[in-house]
Amino acid sequence: MTTQENNLSRRDFLKLGIGALSALAVLEMGGVSLFFMQPRSLVGEFGGIVNAGPVDSFPAGSVVEFPDGRFFLIHAPDGGFLAVYSRCTHLGCTISWEADKNQFFCPCHASSFSTTGDVQNPPAPRALDLFAITIEEGQLLVNTGSITQRDRFTTDQLTYA
Ligand code: FES
Repeated sequence: MTTQENNLSRRDFLKLGIGALSALAVLEMGGVSLFFMQPRSLVGEFGGIVNAGPVDSFPAGSVVEFPDGRFFLIHAPDGGFLAVYSRCTHLGCTISWEADKNQFFCPCHASSFSTTGDVQNPPAPRALDLFAITIEEGQLLVNTGSITQRDRFTTDQLTYA
């Protein structure tokens, strides 16, 4: 065996190895791409329809947080329901419910909102955004895939059972 034959076979071996590694990389990238391109069901989580539960499980006047759906379900004293997005309308920080003060509060710049989502304390420029509610077979379904902006609360925003 000559030195040139040894060099050739080493070169061929390196080419084979690089080719195999390249093919493996392409296969991995293709597999990962296919995984991310699969249609995802958003039922039950933010971006889809969230079943908040039976209508009668929310006492009038209650405010219940649904962290996975990123909303608060408000059962107004008159029996209507509102689902408000838990994002502040100022710069998008996450708000919290302060039961002792009966208000929503944004920790970023201290905006506060009433139980219907109206601005009580700026700089938030408008009321909390809404998600549509439908009631099917006694279940409250909140569509977190469609956000409705509003200036202020009006009674026609309430959904009744
Ligand atoms: S982001 Fe909420 S007050 Fe600024």
